[in-house]
Amino acid sequence: MSNPIPTGRAQKRLLTGLQPSGTLHIGNYFGALKPFVDLYKEYDSHLMVVDYHALTTVRDPDTLRQNIIGIVKDYLAAGVNPQKAILFKQSDVPQHTELAWIFECLVTVPFLELAHAYKDKVAKGLEANAGLFNYPMLMAADILLYDTEVVPVGEDQRQHVEYAREAATKFNHAFGETFGAPEEKILEGVGIVPGTDGAKMSKSYKNTIPLFGSKDEIQKAVMGIVTDSSAGRPENVYAIHKLFKSEAELNSLYAEKEGKYKDLKEALAVDIEAVVGPMREKRENITDEDVREVLKAGGEKARERAETKMQDVRQKVGVTI
Ligand code: TRP
Repeated sequence: MSNPIPTGRAQKRLLTGLQPSGTLHIGNYFGALKPFVDLYKEYDSHLMVVDYHALTTVRDPDTLRQNIIGIVKDYLAAGVNPQKAILFKQSDVPQHTELAWIFECLVTVPFLELAHAYKDKVAKGLEANAGLFNYPMLMAADILLYDTEVVPVGEDQRQHVEYAREAATKFNHAFGETFGAPEEKILEGVGIVPGTDGAKMSKSYKNTIPLFGSKDEIQKAVMGIVTDSSAGRPENVYAIHKLFKSEAELNSLYAEKEGKYKDLKEALAVDIEAVVGPMREKRENITDEDVREVLKAGGEKARERAETKMQDVRQKVGVTI
């Protein structure tokens, strides 16, 4: 019997999924993008746009298309080298949905009812579609198809990686050792990135600073940071500024400009531009055609790996005759 935990590889296998959910903000950059870019080269990395997961919520094909292309551009602009990672989209590798079905036949409905994303939706009185209900098994398939060992995700995805381990265990019990036990690697980033109102930066709070916005858009968002006029140091400005400059540098600036909120916001906008400007320029030079080429090449490599694994799986479950 083959060893379910891949051994003898020079690098550990890593896989993560990217939601094609629209414009990124600097909270996404410091929370997910940057820590990923700093990490991926140490692994045999797979970076996948999860377009079939997105279909659990998106209904507009043009939006989905645009967002798929957009997220690939974002990652390329932020520094992912497609020669050093397999960058592909989920729907180009039909083995994902194929394996998800097999896992769905192994886990119970009550088990899936405990998944946060589903539970939260139901708690809000919303009706979940069956795709959302099965979401964790598609994600398990994403991870297990490649014998992934390391799954970099945000804290909110920890439970989903546990579900993947559970799917692996269920399969192994039923059909023999086939899948290993992937581990989540929680991307710490810089902790919580505060938004323009001091609360966690999040699209749903409308308190974001766009990552690839124009200079004007960024300026406008920064000028809109909520400040408390009674304090010497505008805490909401400082909290965001800390992401871009050391506290030592900031302390002298904030002492010098005490009470001058407009000047401090302008200084922050300049410091954001210094980081974001070069990435924006790089992004503008990536064409849709470039993205298609990268995804095509990545899809071919991913399919080859996925198909090898599925041949074993199909044999084990008994559909190969
Ligand atoms: N559910 C993840 C999220 O919302 C995206 C995802 C799908 C994923 N498949 C994955 C992440 C596999 C890591 C590995 O962020």
